[in-house]
Amino acid sequence: MNVVILGSGRGSNARRLLEAEREGNLGKARVVSVFSDRPDGPILKLGDEFGVEARYLDPGSYRTKLDGDAEKAYIKAIGTKDPGLVVLAGFMRVIKPPMIRAFEGKIINLHPSLLPSFKGLEAIRQAYEYGVKITGCTVHYVTEDVDSGPVIDQEAVRIESDDTLESLEDKVHAAEHRLLPEVVARLSMNEA
Ligand code: GAR
Repeated sequence: MNVVILGSGRGSNARRLLEAEREGNLGKARVVSVFSDRPDGPILKLGDEFGVEARYLDPGSYRTKLDGDAEKAYIKAIGTKDPGLVVLAGFMRVIKPPMIRAFEGKIINLHPSLLPSFKGLEAIRQAYEYGVKITGCTVHYVTEDVDSGPVIDQEAVRIESDDTLESLEDKVHAAEHRLLPEVVARLSMNEA
């Protein structure tokens, strides 16, 4: 099953997927491309390191969404990879209906909270500042409503009284690094 990863920056979850594949822990999934909407993100360095295509795709003039010609270019670039799964791993743009329809039921997103709590940006900070005792991360299918598609799986993280925002971020990221490869591996085994 071909997997295309979209990311915007650090790329630690894209890295974990590539590491899991290298370790033989990604089921039938094979990462074929990593696309970034930023020309300078560390995520693009994964290409050389893992021998996989990693390139910048121009996101157009909008700051927070993919639309118009840029969206068409993304759909084309992803479509040529014949993906069984498109993984949004820190891709910080809203995906609009044309792209969702082009890869119906195949786009999944990683979000750093236990959805439906703390949708949107800075979810770890939102949870920390709200004062909840349990947060975590979610992998869900992408639908037209942002951060609202069917949940595939979640991992909980307890917020201890001595946690700082930074220590909580570390814990949530560690949970994401476990959860996302597990989910991708599982979905790859379900594919016909
Ligand atoms: C991850 O924590 C992911 O959950 C979050 O961005 C980070 C990307 O890290 N995504 C969102 O907030 C999407 N709304 P990474 O680039 O190191 O994988």
